[in-house]
Amino acid sequence: MICGMTTESIQTVAVLGAGTMGNGVAHVFARAGYEVILRDVEQRFLDRGLETIAKNLDREVKKEKITAAQKAETLGRLKPTTEMASVAAADFCVEAVPELVELKTRVLKEADATLRAGVILASNTSSISITRLAAETRRADRFIGMHFFNPVPVMALVEVIRGRATSDETFATTMALCEKLGKKPVGVNDAPGFVSNRVLMPMINEAAYAVMEGVATPEAVDAVMKLGMNHPMGPLELADLIGLDVCVDIMEVLHRGLGNEKYAACPLLKQHVAAGRLGRKSGQGFYKY
Ligand SMILES: NC(=O)c1ccc[n+]([C@@H]2O[C@H](COP(=O)([O-])OP(=O)(O)OC[C@H]3O[C@@H](n4cnc5c(N)ncnc54)[C@H](O)[C@@H]3O)[C@@H](O)[C@H]2O)c1
Repeated sequence: MICGMTTESIQTVAVLGAGTMGNGVAHVFARAGYEVILRDVEQRFLDRGLETIAKNLDREVKKEKITAAQKAETLGRLKPTTEMASVAAADFCVEAVPELVELKTRVLKEADATLRAGVILASNTSSISITRLAAETRRADRFIGMHFFNPVPVMALVEVIRGRATSDETFATTMALCEKLGKKPVGVNDAPGFVSNRVLMPMINEAAYAVMEGVATPEAVDAVMKLGMNHPMGPLELADLIGLDVCVDIMEVLHRGLGNEKYAACPLLKQHVAAGRLGRKSGQGFYKY
């Protein structure tokens, strides 16, 4: 048996991908005192990621959550790199590259070949099976899902997903590590959509059906959920924020994975996507921006 890393022995963390999620994950690890190796494929993606981190840290300084000195220390702990070989020094690794099975598989295989044997490899996938990704590596027992939420420095939840082979030690270490980041980890088992998207996406889909069938306007659907259920955002505003293409993709993961017609994506959602109305990012979705 390979002796794994304990939470206490983790000092250096590698984050693969410096995009929306990767720079957020790097931010929270560096702020918590970890050395962070941030890897992306091109320098300009690293520069953009670091710029975002600096801006988000500035906001924390303004809100007096951290001091200017802590901001500088946090930035000093970030080691950007385009070389996978630099990741070898990590004691823990989080993958946050785009949600494409082939790309993730390739990156995870590379990481698996580079990291020391006992190191835990975590994926921030929002919809791909952790068991399936783990099987692409030689460390399925040290593989786990670490599903952060956007924006990472602000959102408390980390959905920690156990694959079929994830060991108790890997699970316990990852949960404890999330606590060290000041997050609230919740452990779940691997299944399509995990818990977050299994529950959220069908709600969004049903909201789209209500609009499609003329039951109510998007404004009315969102008002009911905000005022009656105390949701901070209505499901359709949230869908526009997430991206309607992402919503359709996740419904398809649920539909395929669970084999139940109740998970089929609402035709109105698919029509918006076909028309290029992807939500906030394209300037129009259920609402105009
Ligand atoms: N955006 C969200 O709200 C959200 C929420 C939870 C989980 N996720 C998941 O997080 C992951 C990343 O999503 P994102 O929104 O940050 O994507 P993104 O496109 O913003 O960032 C991905 C980054 O990975 C980089 N990359 C590509 N190939 C790479 C490689 N071989 N090595 C290192 N970096 C590489 C890209 O250049 C890009 O900078 C996805 O699996 C997604 O499903 C996203």
